[in-house]
Amino acid sequence: MIIAIDGPSGAGKSSVAKACAKTLGFSCLDTGAMYRCIAWLALQKDIPLDDDAALGELARACDIRFGHSDGDPIPKTVFVDDNDVTSAIRTSQIDKAVSPVSAAPSVREAMVHLQRKVGLSGNFVVEGRDIGTVVFPDAQLKIFLTASPEERAHRRVRQNADRGVGSIDYEEVLRDIMRRDEYDSNRAESPLRPATDAHIIDSTEDYIEDIIAKICSMAHACIQKTAEEV
Ligand code: DC
Repeated sequence: MIIAIDGPSGAGKSSVAKACAKTLGFSCLDTGAMYRCIAWLALQKDIPLDDDAALGELARACDIRFGHSDGDPIPKTVFVDDNDVTSAIRTSQIDKAVSPVSAAPSVREAMVHLQRKVGLSGNFVVEGRDIGTVVFPDAQLKIFLTASPEERAHRRVRQNADRGVGSIDYEEVLRDIMRRDEYDSNRAESPLRPATDAHIIDSTEDYIEDIIAKICSMAHACIQKTAEEV
């Protein structure tokens, strides 16, 4: 079973996806981290961020892996070609580079192929921007999680402070979130938008625990319905 969680940057997708996966006993796939890996590689190799062909070649050739600690289905680390990039892909430099990289059609093609392969290997909560619209249009449960840009910027600043990576300047983070919203929503390839059958959840004023409980309850209903149909 696939649970798709889409939404803009900083809406709480990662926390919600991880908590739901843990409660349901599912694995978790962070597709944004995959695009960040390609942006990191492109910067390492000095590939121009508008060179679709070269970026596509990079995306097809690289090996992206998520690291798990003993028996934990929630990944803790990200590796690209044996480099541990868990922190390196969360810097402000990558925040900026990842927009053009994730808009490159050949990068998207390679990543979607990989995401489908991973997702179909078990029960997954998959988070991103186009999971319910493009990657898994038949996902049993689709959530579009959103929140006001200001609330998302506050959360991102707290998250960056906790991780010790990325900007903790609220104004800078807000500007970046608004720039990425604009870019992700207006790009030609797989723009950010809710699937027509997605449940839209605005997390601006709700407790994250309540949202997790709501999604898990919807997931349990889907699991039961599927079991009854078999
Ligand atoms: O969720 P995030 O901020 O880590 O995502 C990083 C970038 O990747 C963001 O600019 C949007 C893009 N992205 C995408 O285009 N499609 C996805 N499925 C996931 C992320």
